Amino acid sequence: MHHEVEIRTLDTADVPYVLRLQETAYAANFLEDADSFAAKISASDETSFGAWHNSEMVGYLIAFPIEGHAGVTLNSSTMSSVRLHEAQAMYIHDLAVRPEWRGRAVADQLLAALTTVSAAHAISVCHVVSVQGSRGFWENRGFVVSADPPPNGYGPEAVLMLRR
Ligand SMILES: CC(C)(COP(=O)(O)OP(=O)(O)OC[C@H]1O[C@@H](n2cnc3c(N)ncnc32)[C@H](O)[C@@H]1OP(=O)(O)O)[C@@H](O)C(=O)NCCC(=O)NCCS
Repeated sequence: MHHEVEIRTLDTADVPYVLRLQETAYAANFLEDADSFAAKISASDETSFGAWHNSEMVGYLIAFPIEGHAGVTLNSSTMSSVRLHEAQAMYIHDLAVRPEWRGRAVADQLLAALTTVSAAHAISVCHVVSVQGSRGFWENRGFVVSADPPPNGYGPEAVLMLRR
């Protein structure tokens, strides 16, 4: 059912849609503010995507290129990102789909868009901090738990995962 949504890159004008979707997908202790999202989206204009159904955002993926570590704290507008052509890895900061749209491969379509850009820049490594019981979702997509600890602010159940 891939025809149902359109995947487009995000820009900072999309932040209000991201904030509304975030509230449907995350527990209160994970909520981030507009500045935090704007900083990540601005870090690279090719690596964050929205999934749209008509004028409704039904999913988003926010990622940026990194050298080694993302150095990101939850709800912060500072992090270490590099230009795509200098990157060693990709860091997925956030992936969320509206509850009523789950199970229809919206997340996989967003991830495929990121994989295409990563491949075009010969970036194979991808990091993500798994929260809210999503570890199995990431494992099913080739990610393994890293020996390194997750960044600050994500709570005791968060795990850093990576795909090589
Ligand atoms: C994780 C998430 C983005 C998946 O989105 P999605 O569009 O349903 O994913 P897809 O349809 O591409 O893949 C379906 C997968 O999600 C799982 N899933 C989660 N919730 C689901 C639901 N309500 N209905 C169907 N499948 C669901 C399925 O088990 C399936 O996993 P599998 O393919 O590994 O067996 C979505 O559940 C979400 O927004 N969760 C809340 C935010 C979150 O915790 N994000 C992860 C942070 S690291």
